Amino acid sequence: MRRFGLIGFPLTHSFSQKFFTEKFAQLGVKDCVYENYPIQDISELDAILKKPDLCGLNVTIPYKRQVIPFLNQASYAVNDIGACNCIEIKDGTLTGHNTDVFGFEKSLLPFLHAHHSKALVLGTGGASAAVVFVLNRLHIEPQYVSRNAAEGALGYGDLTEEVMNEHLLVINTTPQGMYPDTDSFPEIPYQYLTARHHLYDLVYNPAETKFLAKGKVQGATVQNGMEMLELQAEESWRIWNS
Ligand SMILES: NC(=O)c1ccc[n+]([C@@H]2O[C@H](COP(=O)([O-])OP(=O)(O)OC[C@H]3O[C@@H](n4cnc5c(N)ncnc54)[C@H](OP(=O)(O)O)[C@@H]3O)[C@@H](O)[C@H]2O)c1
Repeated sequence: MRRFGLIGFPLTHSFSQKFFTEKFAQLGVKDCVYENYPIQDISELDAILKKPDLCGLNVTIPYKRQVIPFLNQASYAVNDIGACNCIEIKDGTLTGHNTDVFGFEKSLLPFLHAHHSKALVLGTGGASAAVVFVLNRLHIEPQYVSRNAAEGALGYGDLTEEVMNEHLLVINTTPQGMYPDTDSFPEIPYQYLTARHHLYDLVYNPAETKFLAKGKVQGATVQNGMEMLELQAEESWRIWNS
């Protein structure tokens, strides 16, 4: 038996367990199981790691950063971002990866045009670090936007028409709009969005958030976070089988 699982808290509506259970059935894989490990403290990870047939873990909120001290080695992205969402376990060695990076980059690429040379990144949490890592790799200049405007981050009130015209890619990495808080949206000046803007919402539930709906009204192209979510899971599976 090869055992895989997800650590995080809470794990009430886990995408991953359903995804992998369906994947094993589709592939006819009978010796794999994917379980949820809703741990309330990272110290509980030690007990999970003792399972002799454990081959891989996904990591979600709030442990993507806290899991790093448990790793024996880590990818360049994990070290750079300071967040790990996929652990490969081989012969007792734990290797950390960040497959959010893969998922975000691969899902964004088909929507990019030459004029997408500067991006607004709404939010400054863990997901935004993965987004900024990818933007830097793609030579797209990132600009953080935060509720707490500080050095390096604009406030929402700083988003003038000029700033919006300059940044034709806008990425929401805040949880605003996510179920059940579906009426909320980031406070950007939507009236300055145009058909040249592309809006990417990392939120995937609902499929169309207020952020995306308001962008569509202005003629912007939009995408939600579902493809990223699926791609990061596919990449985890590839890593565990490599
Ligand atoms: N599609 C995917 O595969 C994928 C992968 C990872 C994450 N996500 C989604 O991305 C979102 C962010 O994840 P995360 O782990 O980075 O979360 P997080 O750390 O809790 O929040 C991200 C940032 O959003 C801002 N923020 C938080 N609450 C806000 C509010 N009420 N109003 C305005 N801004 C707020 C904060 O930045 P400031 O304090 O600077 O404003 C915060 O640092 C979640 O919805 C998560 O589900 C999706």
